[in-house]
Amino acid sequence: MAMNIVVILIAYLLGSIPSGLIIGKLFYGKDIREHGSGNLGGTNTFRTLGIKAGLTVTIADILKGTLAASLPFLFDLEMHALLVGIFAVVGHMYPIFANFRGGKAVATSGGVLLFYAPLMFLIVLVIFFLCLYITKYVSLSSMLAAIAAIIYSLIVWDIWLIIVVAILAFFVIYRHRANFKRIMNKTEPKIKWMGSKQQ
Ligand code: G3P
Repeated sequence: MAMNIVVILIAYLLGSIPSGLIIGKLFYGKDIREHGSGNLGGTNTFRTLGIKAGLTVTIADILKGTLAASLPFLFDLEMHALLVGIFAVVGHMYPIFANFRGGKAVATSGGVLLFYAPLMFLIVLVIFFLCLYITKYVSLSSMLAAIAAIIYSLIVWDIWLIIVVAILAFFVIYRHRANFKRIMNKTEPKIKWMGSKQQ
Protein backbone atom coordinates (compact mmCIF):
# COMPACT_ATOMS: atom_id res chain seq x y z
CA MET A 1 0.00 0.00 0.00
CA ALA A 2 2.78 2.44 0.96
CA MET A 3 4.51 1.64 -2.32
CA ASN A 4 1.32 2.40 -4.25
CA ILE A 5 1.20 5.86 -2.68
CA VAL A 6 4.89 6.40 -3.48
CA VAL A 7 4.25 5.47 -7.13
CA ILE A 8 1.28 7.87 -7.32
CA LEU A 9 3.49 10.60 -5.87
CA ILE A 10 6.27 9.85 -8.37
CA ALA A 11 3.70 10.00 -11.20
CA TYR A 12 2.47 13.40 -10.00
CA LEU A 13 6.04 14.71 -9.66
CA LEU A 14 6.94 13.38 -13.13
CA GLY A 15 3.91 15.13 -14.59
CA SER A 16 4.89 18.28 -12.72
CA ILE A 17 8.20 18.62 -14.60
CA PRO A 18 7.53 21.86 -16.52
CA SER A 19 9.32 21.02 -19.76
CA GLY A 20 8.02 24.16 -21.50
CA LEU A 21 9.27 26.35 -18.69
CA ILE A 22 12.66 24.60 -18.50
CA ILE A 23 13.31 24.74 -22.26
CA GLY A 24 11.96 28.29 -22.56
CA LYS A 25 14.00 29.69 -19.69
CA LEU A 26 17.14 27.67 -20.24
CA PHE A 27 17.56 28.09 -24.00
CA TYR A 28 15.51 31.19 -24.85
CA GLY A 29 15.37 33.15 -21.57
CA LYS A 30 11.56 33.26 -21.77
CA ASP A 31 8.69 32.10 -19.55
CA ILE A 32 6.23 30.93 -22.21
CA ARG A 33 3.39 31.50 -19.74
CA GLU A 34 3.94 35.22 -20.27
CA HIS A 35 3.49 34.86 -24.03
CA GLY A 36 0.84 33.71 -26.49
CA SER A 37 -2.01 31.84 -24.84
CA GLY A 38 -0.09 31.69 -21.55
CA ASN A 39 -0.34 27.90 -21.59
CA LEU A 40 2.60 25.78 -20.48
CA GLY A 41 2.39 23.32 -23.36
CA GLY A 42 3.82 22.30 -26.70
CA THR A 43 1.49 24.50 -28.77
CA ASN A 44 2.33 27.69 -26.92
CA THR A 45 6.02 26.78 -26.97
CA PHE A 46 5.77 26.34 -30.74
CA ARG A 47 3.88 29.63 -31.00
CA THR A 48 6.38 31.51 -28.84
CA LEU A 49 9.71 29.82 -29.48
CA GLY A 50 9.38 27.97 -32.78
CA ILE A 51 9.09 24.44 -34.08
CA LYS A 52 12.23 22.93 -32.52
CA ALA A 53 11.30 23.99 -29.00
CA GLY A 54 7.62 23.16 -29.57
CA LEU A 55 8.38 19.64 -30.74
CA THR A 56 10.84 19.03 -27.91
CA VAL A 57 8.32 20.13 -25.29
CA THR A 58 5.50 18.09 -26.86
CA ILE A 59 7.63 14.94 -26.92
CA ALA A 60 8.82 15.54 -23.34
CA ASP A 61 5.21 16.03 -22.19
CA ILE A 62 4.12 12.83 -23.95
CA LEU A 63 6.99 10.90 -22.35
CA LYS A 64 5.97 12.09 -18.87
CA GLY A 65 2.65 10.30 -19.32
CA THR A 66 4.20 7.20 -20.87
CA LEU A 67 6.78 6.87 -18.12
CA ALA A 68 4.23 7.45 -15.36
CA ALA A 69 1.90 4.79 -16.80
CA SER A 70 4.78 2.32 -16.92
CA LEU A 71 5.62 2.78 -13.21
CA PRO A 72 3.44 -0.12 -11.92
CA PHE A 73 5.24 -2.39 -14.38
CA LEU A 74 8.67 -1.02 -13.45
CA PHE A 75 7.98 -1.40 -9.73
CA ASP A 76 6.19 -4.73 -10.21
CA LEU A 77 3.01 -3.46 -8.56
CA GLU A 78 -0.58 -4.52 -9.09
CA MET A 79 -1.78 -1.04 -9.94
CA HIS A 80 -3.49 -0.11 -13.15
CA ALA A 81 -1.25 1.81 -15.56
CA LEU A 82 -4.09 4.13 -16.56
CA LEU A 83 -4.89 4.99 -12.96
CA VAL A 84 -1.28 5.97 -12.26
CA GLY A 85 -1.22 7.92 -15.53
CA ILE A 86 -4.03 10.18 -14.32
CA PHE A 87 -1.73 11.53 -11.61
CA ALA A 88 0.92 12.50 -14.17
CA VAL A 89 -1.75 14.42 -16.09
CA VAL A 90 -2.82 16.18 -12.88
CA GLY A 91 0.86 17.06 -12.30
CA HIS A 92 1.13 18.40 -15.84
CA MET A 93 -1.94 20.62 -15.37
CA TYR A 94 -1.08 21.74 -11.82
CA PRO A 95 2.72 21.37 -11.51
CA ILE A 96 4.18 21.75 -8.05
CA PHE A 97 7.43 22.95 -9.70
CA ALA A 98 5.73 25.81 -11.58
CA ASN A 99 3.30 27.42 -9.14
CA PHE A 100 0.53 25.02 -10.24
CA ARG A 101 0.23 26.81 -13.59
CA GLY A 102 0.64 24.08 -16.15
CA GLY A 103 -0.69 22.71 -19.43
CA LYS A 104 -3.99 21.55 -20.89
CA ALA A 105 -3.62 17.78 -20.41
CA VAL A 106 -3.34 16.84 -24.08
CA ALA A 107 0.22 15.57 -24.64
CA THR A 108 0.59 13.89 -21.24
CA SER A 109 -2.79 12.14 -21.62
CA GLY A 110 -1.59 11.01 -25.04
CA GLY A 111 1.54 9.61 -23.44
CA VAL A 112 -0.53 7.58 -20.96
CA LEU A 113 -2.59 6.14 -23.84
CA LEU A 114 0.57 5.47 -25.84
CA PHE A 115 1.69 3.08 -23.10
CA TYR A 116 -1.63 1.33 -22.51
CA ALA A 117 -3.29 1.42 -25.93
CA PRO A 118 -0.77 2.36 -28.65
CA LEU A 119 -3.21 1.65 -31.49
CA MET A 120 -5.74 3.97 -29.91
CA PHE A 121 -3.03 6.61 -29.54
CA LEU A 122 -2.23 6.33 -33.25
CA ILE A 123 -5.87 6.51 -34.36
CA VAL A 124 -6.57 9.51 -32.13
CA LEU A 125 -3.38 11.16 -33.38
CA VAL A 126 -4.49 10.76 -37.00
CA ILE A 127 -7.89 12.30 -36.12
CA PHE A 128 -6.08 15.15 -34.36
CA PHE A 129 -3.91 15.92 -37.39
CA LEU A 130 -6.82 15.59 -39.82
CA CYS A 131 -8.81 18.13 -37.80
CA LEU A 132 -5.75 20.35 -37.52
CA TYR A 133 -5.17 20.18 -41.26
CA ILE A 134 -8.78 21.15 -41.98
CA THR A 135 -9.43 23.75 -39.28
CA LYS A 136 -5.90 24.95 -38.31
CA TYR A 137 -7.07 25.08 -34.67
CA VAL A 138 -4.86 23.03 -32.31
CA SER A 139 -7.32 23.51 -29.46
CA LEU A 140 -10.31 22.26 -31.47
CA SER A 141 -8.24 19.32 -32.68
CA SER A 142 -7.30 18.50 -29.08
CA MET A 143 -10.95 18.55 -27.97
CA LEU A 144 -12.02 16.46 -30.95
CA ALA A 145 -9.20 13.98 -30.19
CA ALA A 146 -10.54 13.70 -26.63
CA ILE A 147 -14.04 12.93 -27.94
CA ALA A 148 -12.60 10.42 -30.44
CA ALA A 149 -10.80 8.73 -27.55
CA ILE A 150 -14.09 8.38 -25.65
CA ILE A 151 -15.75 6.80 -28.70
CA TYR A 152 -12.79 4.45 -29.23
CA SER A 153 -12.86 3.31 -25.59
CA LEU A 154 -16.58 2.57 -25.90
CA ILE A 155 -16.03 0.57 -29.09
CA VAL A 156 -13.31 -1.62 -27.56
CA TRP A 157 -15.32 -1.76 -24.30
CA ASP A 158 -12.44 -1.83 -21.84
CA ILE A 159 -13.93 -0.61 -18.54
CA TRP A 160 -10.67 0.88 -17.24
CA LEU A 161 -10.10 2.64 -20.54
CA ILE A 162 -13.68 3.96 -20.60
CA ILE A 163 -13.41 5.39 -17.07
CA VAL A 164 -9.93 6.86 -17.38
CA VAL A 165 -10.46 8.25 -20.89
CA ALA A 166 -13.66 9.92 -19.66
CA ILE A 167 -11.66 11.57 -16.84
CA LEU A 168 -8.81 12.62 -19.16
CA ALA A 169 -11.25 13.93 -21.78
CA PHE A 170 -12.98 15.94 -19.08
CA PHE A 171 -9.59 17.44 -18.10
CA VAL A 172 -8.82 18.31 -21.73
CA ILE A 173 -12.18 19.92 -22.44
CA TYR A 174 -12.31 21.75 -19.10
CA ARG A 175 -8.82 23.18 -19.64
CA HIS A 176 -9.80 24.34 -23.13
CA ARG A 177 -12.86 26.34 -22.09
CA ALA A 178 -11.17 29.68 -22.86
CA ASN A 179 -10.07 28.34 -26.27
CA PHE A 180 -13.65 27.19 -26.89
CA LYS A 181 -14.96 30.69 -26.21
CA ARG A 182 -12.32 32.15 -28.54
CA ILE A 183 -13.26 29.68 -31.29
CA MET A 184 -16.90 30.71 -30.92
CA ASN A 185 -16.13 34.41 -31.20
CA LYS A 186 -13.51 33.77 -33.90
CA THR A 187 -10.54 35.14 -31.97
CA GLU A 188 -8.70 31.82 -31.50
CA PRO A 189 -5.37 31.97 -33.41
CA LYS A 190 -4.89 29.42 -36.18
CA ILE A 191 -1.69 27.44 -36.50
CA LYS A 192 0.83 28.58 -39.07
CA TRP A 193 2.42 25.62 -40.86
CA MET A 194 5.33 27.36 -42.47
CA GLY A 195 7.98 29.50 -40.81
CA SER A 196 9.36 28.81 -37.40
CA LYS A 197 7.07 30.97 -35.28
CA GLN A 198 3.39 31.80 -35.03
CA GLN A 199 2.07 35.30 -34.47
O1 G3P B 1 -2.55 21.30 -26.05
C1 G3P B 1 -2.94 22.62 -25.90
C2 G3P B 1 -3.59 23.09 -27.17
O2 G3P B 1 -4.70 22.30 -27.48
C3 G3P B 1 -4.01 24.52 -27.10
O3 G3P B 1 -2.94 25.30 -26.68
O4 G3P B 1 -1.70 27.39 -26.32
O5 G3P B 1 -3.45 27.29 -28.08
O6 G3P B 1 -4.13 27.27 -25.70
P1 G3P B 1 -3.06 26.90 -26.68
